[in-house]
Amino acid sequence: MEWTREMRYRRLENASKEEIETITKKVKNCEWRQSYHIQPTTGLLNDPNGFSYFNGEYHLFYQWFPLGPVHGLKYWYHTKSKDLVHWENVGVAIKPDHDYDSHGAYSGSAIEHENHLYLMYTGNTRNKQWERHPYQVMAVMNKQGKIIKSQSPVIADVPEGYTDHFRDPKIWKSGDTFYVVIGAQRANSTGCAVLYKSINLSDWTFLGEMKTDLEHFGYMWECPDYFELDGNGVFVFSPQGLEPKGDHFQNIYQSGYLVGDKLDLQTLSFSHGEFHELDRGFDFYAPQTTLSSDGRRLLVGWMGLPEIDYPTDRNDWAHCLTLPRELSVKNGKLFQQPAKELKKLRKDKSELEATITNEKLKAFSGKKYELICEVLENDSAVFGIEFRAKGDEKTVIQYDAHEKRVMLDRSLSGQPVGEAFGTRRQCSMESRKIKFHLFVDTSSVEIFINNGEEVFTSRIFPKADSNEIRFFAEGGTVTFIAKKWDI
Ligand code: FRU
Repeated sequence: MEWTREMRYRRLENASKEEIETITKKVKNCEWRQSYHIQPTTGLLNDPNGFSYFNGEYHLFYQWFPLGPVHGLKYWYHTKSKDLVHWENVGVAIKPDHDYDSHGAYSGSAIEHENHLYLMYTGNTRNKQWERHPYQVMAVMNKQGKIIKSQSPVIADVPEGYTDHFRDPKIWKSGDTFYVVIGAQRANSTGCAVLYKSINLSDWTFLGEMKTDLEHFGYMWECPDYFELDGNGVFVFSPQGLEPKGDHFQNIYQSGYLVGDKLDLQTLSFSHGEFHELDRGFDFYAPQTTLSSDGRRLLVGWMGLPEIDYPTDRNDWAHCLTLPRELSVKNGKLFQQPAKELKKLRKDKSELEATITNEKLKAFSGKKYELICEVLENDSAVFGIEFRAKGDEKTVIQYDAHEKRVMLDRSLSGQPVGEAFGTRRQCSMESRKIKFHLFVDTSSVEIFINNGEEVFTSRIFPKADSNEIRFFAEGGTVTFIAKKWDI
């Protein structure tokens, strides 16, 4: 079906109850519905928004086009959780029903202030000529969950020197002052981020551009996020327009980070190390962070990418969010570990210690589980795991000790997705005693390598009965222990 502009900008409020019921039924019948990831009831989910802890609960909103698996008129959908594990669908939080957000309530963030949760986002508008104008808008949620949008935008104009690609405000507070970083495009079509400050969340003063070393680094920086962690300044953003380079930048758009000194809020200088990708898998974009109730820095990403068809489109829905990850900084790099709360998902446990030589060992089985596999001794050329496997179908994660590389291969994972961008993802890693930590759901896998030094996140679309787990060693012997919990 071709999605015309008219169809993409149809309002949820104009869809009949019957239409929504029909779509919902089709979605429910999809064999690839996830079991423990946040996913839309219908339509398309993209960026996580407004991730926060407020009034004793975590709030996680997301970009949502309800009426089909395409990008269209975006709403904010609200989910909440007491424990970061079990999420409740609350419903639509922000409708694009004002002049300043007529063509979408785009991405934004949240901060608590005076017992309310302030949601700052980009109101996307288009005129008759389909020219874009972005507004930065504030909505306020009280403790009962009622949300009121501001009468007028808090930032109405794009500062001179920047294009209408100006969006995704991320707020934080330093001392008594609020700051916001916004993703932008310079008039010369290069990406950057700009900063504003405010003392009351309604009057914002433009400070200028964040000064990084990345003058020519893609054409637009989406979803910026700045925070401080373990004494460092960390800047996360999603640059569009980077060319693939070796194992790097293989997806259509990238998400990554810079670690450096704390951002100088007077001079706006950010002195930093090199750009690292946050995730080495196929489906990861536009992450956002918040602090947990006990002060840990948590990150959630969109497990998907724009401009790629997914097999679930046929059932009128697309995408999910990643599991929450805990961040830490080690030697100038971000490490990401699954949030400790996720242990709550663990059910039946299986355990195995084995030594294999040039062979494949079938052990355990499952479709939804957590698996930790730790190598104790390794003189093999290649060691790895095939999972969601049956016959030739399999997804493979492996460590090649000669090439010193980790590789995720989804060429035989089932229904193809995004093949134009390749079917393998790799990264360098020097570690014979490799540790793979997998979270497998019906149609996804998140693999934390060596305690979160690298992560591979991907959707996979295998057959329902592809549930084998096989450990293999080539060119030598490997001793490993594996623990698996059903979820
Ligand atoms: C990133 C993004 C944001 C924008 C939102 C619209 O995926 O393009 O820049 O605010 O999605 O849904």
